[in-house]
Amino acid sequence: MHLSALITGTNSNLGLNIAYRLLEEVPTGDKLTIIVTSRTLPKAREAIDKIKEYNEKHAHREGILSFDYILVDFSNMVSILGAVYELKKSHEKIDYLFINAAQGVYAGIDWIQATKEVLANPVKASTFPTYKIQRVGVKSRDGLGLVFQANVFGPYYFVQQLAEPLLSKSPSPKVVWISSIMSKPSYLSFADLQLLQSDISYEGSKRLVDLLHLATYKDLHTKYGITQYLTHPGIFTSFSFFQYLNPFTFYGMLLMFYVARLFGSPWHNISGWTAANAPLFACLKAHPAHDSQEKKYGSACSYNGKEYLKVTDVDPSGKADVAKYFQDLKLQWDDRLKDQISDTRKIYADS
Ligand SMILES: NC(=O)c1ccc[n+]([C@@H]2O[C@H](COP(=O)([O-])OP(=O)(O)OC[C@H]3O[C@@H](n4cnc5c(N)ncnc54)[C@H](OP(=O)(O)O)[C@@H]3O)[C@@H](O)[C@H]2O)c1
Repeated sequence: MHLSALITGTNSNLGLNIAYRLLEEVPTGDKLTIIVTSRTLPKAREAIDKIKEYNEKHAHREGILSFDYILVDFSNMVSILGAVYELKKSHEKIDYLFINAAQGVYAGIDWIQATKEVLANPVKASTFPTYKIQRVGVKSRDGLGLVFQANVFGPYYFVQQLAEPLLSKSPSPKVVWISSIMSKPSYLSFADLQLLQSDISYEGSKRLVDLLHLATYKDLHTKYGITQYLTHPGIFTSFSFFQYLNPFTFYGMLLMFYVARLFGSPWHNISGWTAANAPLFACLKAHPAHDSQEKKYGSACSYNGKEYLKVTDVDPSGKADVAKYFQDLKLQWDDRLKDQISDTRKIYADS
């Protein structure tokens, strides 16, 4: 069998570990194509080199392993359309799509608040931190809420564009969303679905991901035969947050994670490999007959780091409003982009 897997934002701790685990867990005789995405060519190439190196050192796959890359910025609708155009040109089908790319608009860390939270309750401080400073009101060049577009609307539009024919041509296509435990209903205001007034837009975007999954998974199956799952990776070391830490604070954070785990937190996976457990389960093992798509599949571990799957409920309040908002916005963008579909060179020239 020939399987194609696309992982958005591949050159990240979770993205790479999803790829490594695919190398190990997709039957070794199958031909596997991994499509990496990045906003920049050097990072796309680096991701491919790392995955190749992992295969040579550890996985030693027997079947043919091939790679492709797509440059895409989910905060730019023209870039998404260009990526879809490229994918349709060079691939017959996509079997697995992991929506992993995400960003926040961080301005740094409030160290006084961080110290207070860590001293008061280290487990809570490292599970639901409120000391990361996020900028408010940041818009993309498309005029949409930046975090809303990069983390939710852009990827949603991407899925909708790939559904027919690339995903629907697979015999059993899977779409796996990466959410977070930081996605409580209280993080999202229905008066501000683009998260422009929010100082916790990253968390709000993850709540939107949860609701959007609940609102769309049935339709995706009925119309295109796609099975969609909602997952989250627990808590692990993120490459993107390193820039705000020095060696002292990095090791301090790591220590806090281990302490939280010893105190019984199931979510402090720390390792990207363990964090990739739930996404891989959803992709390769989950079946709607026994694994409900109404639930959220989380990567968890015991105090000594042994991985297991932890399934949680998702509060569905407001999913119909979210569905309507996304459908309407999609129609608006279909209309705005309708003349740009024929030639990618034109698409980029116009952007
Ligand atoms: N770290 C945690 O503890 C944690 C907890 C819960 C959930 N998560 C979720 O797990 C996923 C992976 O997290 P991570 O920490 O491994 O990743 P990360 O370091 O935050 O990076 C994710 C990737 O997303 C890509 N990206 C960012 N903005 C983008 C945009 N506008 N368009 C296209 N791509 C964009 C970047 O790729 P390029 O720079 O190459 O373009 C980046 O490599 C994310 O969805 C995150 O929200 C993480």
